[in-house]
Amino acid sequence: MAENPSVLITGASSGIGATYADRFARRGHNLVLVARDKERLEVIAARLRNETGVAVDVLQADLTKPVELATVEARLRDDRRIGILVNNAGASVGGSFVEQATDDVERIVSLNTTALVRLASAVAPRLTGAGEGAIINIGSVVGVAPEFGMTVYGATKAFVLFLSQGLSLELIPKGVYVQAVLPAATRTEIWERSGVDINSIPAMMEVGELVDAALAGFDRREAVTIPPLHDAAQWDAYQAARQAMLPGFGQSRAAERYLAAL
Ligand SMILES: NC(=O)c1ccc[n+]([C@@H]2O[C@H](COP(=O)([O-])OP(=O)(O)OC[C@H]3O[C@@H](n4cnc5c(N)ncnc54)[C@H](OP(=O)(O)O)[C@@H]3O)[C@@H](O)[C@H]2O)c1
Repeated sequence: MAENPSVLITGASSGIGATYADRFARRGHNLVLVARDKERLEVIAARLRNETGVAVDVLQADLTKPVELATVEARLRDDRRIGILVNNAGASVGGSFVEQATDDVERIVSLNTTALVRLASAVAPRLTGAGEGAIINIGSVVGVAPEFGMTVYGATKAFVLFLSQGLSLELIPKGVYVQAVLPAATRTEIWERSGVDINSIPAMMEVGELVDAALAGFDRREAVTIPPLHDAAQWDAYQAARQAMLPGFGQSRAAERYLAAL
C-alpha cells in the first residue's frame, strides 16, 4: 500500500468511527469523514487537524438517501488519494421483530448493508486497478448469534461478514486487503440511539480498546478480527466445520433422510 493513503471513514461523528478517525490521524493518514451531523464532524476535524497536522475533509451524507450516498461513492471512485475505506456507519433498532416498524427495519437494512456494499463496490475497482488498498467492514458478533435476539440487525451483520469473507477471497490476489471487524457490546451511542439501556448489558468494552485491538488485527492482515473473542481457536474450529461441509454440497441426489420420506 502506498505510504499513508487517505482514509474515508463512514459514521465518523461518534463512537467507533470517531475513534478510527483519531487513530488513523495519529498514524499520519489524511482523512475524509462522513456522517449526517456536519457540526460534530467539523469539531472532530478541527481537533484532529490541530493535534496531528493531517488534512481532514468533511462530507455530510445520509447514507440511506441514494442521492447523498452517491456523493460518497463518487468521492471513492474519483479521489485517487483514498486508499482505505472504513465502512463503519451502522445502526440498530430496539424491540422484537414484531414490535419494530417496517420502515425502521428497512432503514437499518439500507444503512448496514446497501450503503456498505455500494461504497465497497465504488472503491474496489480503483483499488484493484492500483493493486493496493484496504476495505475495513464493521460487522458484529451478533451476525453469528441469532440467539441474541437482535434478528434484523444480526442479519445485516451476517451480510457484512459474508461479504467481507467473499471479497477477501476475490480481492487479496489483486493486492487489496479486506478486514471484517466483529465487535461485541462496546460503549458508544448506538445503545441510546436504539433505545437500549446500556446498564442492562453485562459486559461493555471501551471504544478505544475495541478500535486499538481492531487495528492490531488490521496490521496483522487478519481477514476476521473479533476483539472480544479470547479463544481464537473457537473461530478457527467454526470456520473448519463450515468448510468441511462444502465438498458435500455437490450432489445429484437428495440426502437419504429425505428420500426415505417419499
Ligand atoms: N457499539 C457496539 O456495541 C457495537 C457492537 C457491534 C458492532 N457495532 C457497529 O459499529 C458501527 C459503529 O457504531 P457505534 O457503536 O460507533 O455507534 P454510534 O456511536 O451510534 O455511531 C454510529 C455512526 O453512524 C453514523 N450514522 C448513523 N446513521 C447514519 C446515516 N443514515 N448516514 C450516515 N451516517 C450515519 C452516525 O453519525 P450521524 O448520526 O452523525 O449520521 C455515527 O457517526 C456500526 O456499524 C455498529 O453496528 C457496534
